[in-house]
Amino acid sequence: MSDTLSFPPLRIGPFELAAPAVLAPLAGYTDLSFRRICRLMGAGYCSTEVTLDTSINLSPKLRLKLIQPAADDHPLAGQIMGCKAETMAIAAGHLLALGCDVVDLNFACPVRKVLRRKRGGHLMRDPDGAVATIRAVAAAVGGQAPITVKLRKSFDQDDADLSAFWQIAEAAFDAGAVAINVHARSVEARYSGPADWEFLARVKQHFGHKVIIGSGDVLSPHHAVDLLRLTGVDGVAFARGALGNPWIFRQFEQLLAGRQEAAPTLAEQRDVIARHYALCVEQYGSRGARMMHRFGIKYARCHPNPKLVRHAFIDSPAGVDVEGILNRYYGPSEAMPV
Ligand SMILES: Cc1cc2nc3c(=O)[nH]c(=O)nc-3n(C[C@H](O)[C@H](O)[C@H](O)COP(=O)(O)O)c2cc1C
Repeated sequence: MSDTLSFPPLRIGPFELAAPAVLAPLAGYTDLSFRRICRLMGAGYCSTEVTLDTSINLSPKLRLKLIQPAADDHPLAGQIMGCKAETMAIAAGHLLALGCDVVDLNFACPVRKVLRRKRGGHLMRDPDGAVATIRAVAAAVGGQAPITVKLRKSFDQDDADLSAFWQIAEAAFDAGAVAINVHARSVEARYSGPADWEFLARVKQHFGHKVIIGSGDVLSPHHAVDLLRLTGVDGVAFARGALGNPWIFRQFEQLLAGRQEAAPTLAEQRDVIARHYALCVEQYGSRGARMMHRFGIKYARCHPNPKLVRHAFIDSPAGVDVEGILNRYYGPSEAMPV
């Protein structure tokens, strides 16, 4: 037993989280089923995946399908991206009406099609557009709910002065944003290369008591502790680190309490995967097995024989026989390391 690690609670607007960690938005993954599983493991704050403002604005039915609000899924940040300040402001209002607790603006998405349409990460090279969006959203909903902004360090990989970042971040806090989420890579770098934690330290130093949530290369609970220690940011975002390992939230709390992190036993993995599958079926009906395909592939990483289990999930793209896979690979006979 080592000493407990003491970090101040993470405060995002009115929400105070005991552990300074959140579930990052993850397109294709942070649906209601995965958010519920992460909350079960200790996640105190979750985000939807990024949604298009125009889709949110299109129809009540579509926005309900995209956000999937639920009474047991709070506090929840709804994340939107778009290319027009006015449509972003309208979408922000819809998010609140749907029950989102926080509106998160995405200026970080690096997908080519998104950039071509001047959305997401494109705003890192259009700081005036980003600032206009922040102001329009703040004017529309700032009085009713907290706003946060997700930023990258820069657009270009070799941007030296990072002026767009500073301009947008300053404007966000000036407009009343309660926190910024900083993915410490450029948009050009997408998800490769090391995240620049030194930059996160600079951001925290610059903004003093403002709330900064750091993102990038938080792939284990130890990384989360290191990031908090080395940069001084207020919170960390689990992204790829949580995919297939929602236990990372519990492991992080174990480290904070001065204990060793415990890997999930095979029996626990079985229970959580079964539960996740049940949530998918509840949410998607007959498409539940198909939706479980992508999660199953990720869950395989915690199995003693990840390759074997990964292939079992990969080989059934149209719909996973979850029960069959659990019986074959997660039964008592698999309790011994293979
Ligand atoms: C599959 C995937 C989907 C993502 N989707 C989103 C998203 O919808 N919105 C967002 O702001 N960031 C998104 N991100 C970025 C993550 O939230 C996070 O900032 C990034 O992965 C860096 O953290 P990591 O290196 O610890 O994974 C996504 C990342 C991945 C890998």
